Amino acid sequence: MFGIFNRGNQDIKPTVEGVIQALAKVDDPELHKDLVTLNMARDVVVNGNEVNLRIMLTTPACPLKGKIQSDIESALRPLGVAKVNIRWDSQVPTDNRISGALNIGVKVAIAVSSGKGGVGKSTIAVNLAVALQRSGAKVGILDADIYGPNVPMMMGAKGRPMSPDGKHIMPIEAHGVRIMSMGFLVDPDKPVVLRGPMLHGIIRQFLGDVMWGDLDYLIVDLPPGTGDAQLSLSQSIPLTGAVMVTTPQQVSVADVTKAIGMFNQVDVPILGLVENMGVFIAPDTGKRYDIFGAGGGRKLAERAGVPFLGEVPLDPQIRVGGDAGIPIIISHPDAPAAKALVEIANSLAAKISVRILAPEQRYTAAPELKIL
Ligand SMILES: Nc1ncnc2c1ncn2[C@@H]1O[C@H](COP(=O)(O)OP(=O)(O)OP(=O)(O)O)[C@@H](O)[C@H]1O
Ligand SMILES: [Mg+2]
Repeated sequence: MFGIFNRGNQDIKPTVEGVIQALAKVDDPELHKDLVTLNMARDVVVNGNEVNLRIMLTTPACPLKGKIQSDIESALRPLGVAKVNIRWDSQVPTDNRISGALNIGVKVAIAVSSGKGGVGKSTIAVNLAVALQRSGAKVGILDADIYGPNVPMMMGAKGRPMSPDGKHIMPIEAHGVRIMSMGFLVDPDKPVVLRGPMLHGIIRQFLGDVMWGDLDYLIVDLPPGTGDAQLSLSQSIPLTGAVMVTTPQQVSVADVTKAIGMFNQVDVPILGLVENMGVFIAPDTGKRYDIFGAGGGRKLAERAGVPFLGEVPLDPQIRVGGDAGIPIIISHPDAPAAKALVEIANSLAAKISVRILAPEQRYTAAPELKIL
């Protein structure tokens, strides 16, 4: 099977060097670089015709384990390898812009944004955070919506943050996610009155003075709009990238283009677009209703030249979960909306890795290109 030079598998003895050479020809499906260059293949041990190795993924939320495994098996088979035992491990790459700017242990910071209000930013922010946390990552949420902080309610997080030294404050943890929000610091019934520079100061404090500890992902829930307030927020927080949320009612290229333009001004890439509340999947029959016509979000993403991350169906349980402080990923993990959110979190994690480890793969506004 392997050509006339080999007298059957028994005679071929795989070596560590041979295995490493073969792995140097296996590309990570998303990063398009090989496993050896990326330092993803580690601890190779050859035991007869069995190979043991550790694969260090760039995110615990990796959607492509199966593909990587079968690519490795195909590459090693010609060496006479009969069995490959992979130990999966992960290490989120550090975005130096974040750690350098903040001097804190946050590897990646992602903003969730939209042109319009009420499209589901906070809902998607908390569910993405919980999905990444459940995959095994260390996650925090910074609620940058100072005037309308919704994250504490949606995460069921209560209490006043403690300060061990009078200068730093501890985030409040809920569902395994560390959270900081204006909602913890003010009386929920009193409106927050702040002027622009104070807002800036608070956001900077939320980053620099909160004891986030080591975080793989910090999700930043932005207030709605693309005005000056958002621009200055995006400037005061170093960001790896932004996720845009739209609903089909507001599927307007103008809105999204405006938001993309705003992030461009501050040199923040758009990692992708999420369509929310465009379809309804009947819980009793599983039938799908494309209330606004199919594929609007995907088309919009293509026209705007950004990757499409997926669609979250309309599901009353999302609102119920939001009000009760239990994100749908936890309360109804089998609901189509929860599954969609997990998939979106996984593709986002992959886009983040590409952004940091293969930044030359910039997304160009051609519909057929799937890369960043
Ligand atoms: N897919 C969905 N299905 C059902 N309800 C949803 C869905 N997504 C969001 N909602 C509900 O819509 C309302 C608005 O969502 P959310 O607060 O997340 O939007 P937002 O964009 O953060 O709003 P704001 O601009 O005010 O910050 C909430 O009541 C939420 O529970
Ligand atoms: Mg919100």
